[in-house]
Amino acid sequence: MTRVIGLDLGSSRLKASTLDGGGNPKIIPTPSGEMYMDSAVYIAPDGKVLTGIEARHMGLMDPGGCIMNAKRYLDSNKVLCKRGKERRAIDFVQIQIETFAAWVESQTGEPPKLVVVSIPANFRQDKRENVKLAAERAGLQVLLMPHEPTAGVFGAAVYERGDGVAVIIDVGGSTTDVTSAKIVGNTTQILTTNGLEKMGGIDFCQRVVDWALQAYKQQHGQLPSQQEAPLFYQELHERAEQAIHALSRRTETHIIASHNSQMVQVNLTRDKYAQLIGEDIGKIMDCVQQNMTDAGITVDDVAEFLTIGGPTLNPVIDEAFARRFNRKPWANVDRNFAVVYGNSILGRMELERQGHTVSNDQGCALPPLAYAAREVSAHPIGVAVVGKSLRQLFNSVLLPKGTPIPSTQMGHFQLAERGQTDVLIEILQGPERAPKKDCLLLGHFDMSNLTPVNDRPHPLEITMRHDKNGMITVEAFDPITNVSGDLQIDYRKDGQKDHAA
Ligand SMILES: Nc1ncnc2c1ncn2[C@@H]1O[C@H](COP(=O)(O)OP(=O)(O)OP(=O)(O)O)[C@@H](O)[C@H]1O
Ligand SMILES: [Mg+2]
Repeated sequence: MTRVIGLDLGSSRLKASTLDGGGNPKIIPTPSGEMYMDSAVYIAPDGKVLTGIEARHMGLMDPGGCIMNAKRYLDSNKVLCKRGKERRAIDFVQIQIETFAAWVESQTGEPPKLVVVSIPANFRQDKRENVKLAAERAGLQVLLMPHEPTAGVFGAAVYERGDGVAVIIDVGGSTTDVTSAKIVGNTTQILTTNGLEKMGGIDFCQRVVDWALQAYKQQHGQLPSQQEAPLFYQELHERAEQAIHALSRRTETHIIASHNSQMVQVNLTRDKYAQLIGEDIGKIMDCVQQNMTDAGITVDDVAEFLTIGGPTLNPVIDEAFARRFNRKPWANVDRNFAVVYGNSILGRMELERQGHTVSNDQGCALPPLAYAAREVSAHPIGVAVVGKSLRQLFNSVLLPKGTPIPSTQMGHFQLAERGQTDVLIEILQGPERAPKKDCLLLGHFDMSNLTPVNDRPHPLEITMRHDKNGMITVEAFDPITNVSGDLQIDYRKDGQKDHAA
């Protein structure tokens, strides 16, 4: 019997889930009894590591040692902290996952081995790879990495509401994802996924902080610098976040912070908050519209709109939605936990698909679930086939956005030059015919000592696969020389290969 644990690696809050006696997802509380853990990691000057609320509090005193949302920086190899040793975003995510593993063990009596970790739908390939790597370094096996809104669809049991199209909007701490899904019988088919990589509660909080700082400046003439008053800035962030939370139940609240006896006090109403984040909300609504356009549907085709994620607890997002689309979104699930619940359900479905019997938190066997999920890719992936002198500078997409996952596609290419004996194949994330410089370089691939062909085009077959986690593998075959080669992902080696040169 196999057990799987769900992990929502939120940029603000980590959540863990298992399956109860009836096979329903349930939260695994943290050792201190909370339903989630702050994603903060703090490294003390002596190198000691703290996580969760303790880390967040230490971050108030000593912001230089605290990383709040490491997941956001997973596409970079930049050293984020040098205390004890040099640590990059991937190291911080590893610490978070180790913390999660210890928390699950303390609550369930068993260390987790197999996990389902959801990721933002718009996550670039390098970020996906780094989440998996961080989990493996923490000693866990990743069964599945569903897109967060796809997990949300299952966590909110959208499939139980009958056939039809549902659009799910997940506004998190730092990312926003929109997914449309078609439910037919027991199958949930994801139609398309869009996202805003940097949009969420952290940004909304910043708008409120900026507004309060403006008030401080008006009152006291000038602002203290960040270096001079780190505590003032951290405190203001905390207060602004508390005020935003309070506004989900009240229509008005206060923010007070002080520096050197100079105080700032502002009244924040829900309407003012809506105004401050109005531009952000507009972008989220545009993203919903784009998703429906990409899926080839209109508002009238959608049976249900569902909003999940912490910031949607404040009614301003649903209200803006109702104004723009003339429809009221719903959430029949705790909006904080839809994603992590979905991870447990999808983990169960995947294990059953692999022929395993799934066990609940009591170690008892669960009967098979009668549901199926079909996921699609969020980014177009293609290749540029490069010769010695003549370079193909554009992306030829092999796996368009929206390709079912898993899937395999083969493309026929020709070497650029007559008599060519070496070829460099570059794997690119970006739209069809996009210039290479505008694409993300995922990896490359050299083939050499090819038999030269002078009298006709030299064919090359390139096969690209998406595995069940959206990971890419590529093979090229030269039928003239009868050799093949495999992709070498290179972003792990230099870590910050952001764009193809
Ligand atoms: N009642 C509330 N009203 C408004 N915002 C809230 C409320 N509760 C939590 N939030 C905000 O929600 C955010 C966290 O939401 P959530 O847990 O969905 O994000 P996450 O999963 O950690 O992030 P992401 O999905 O972007 O990785 C924080 O910015 C927090 O301030
Ligand atoms: Mg989230």
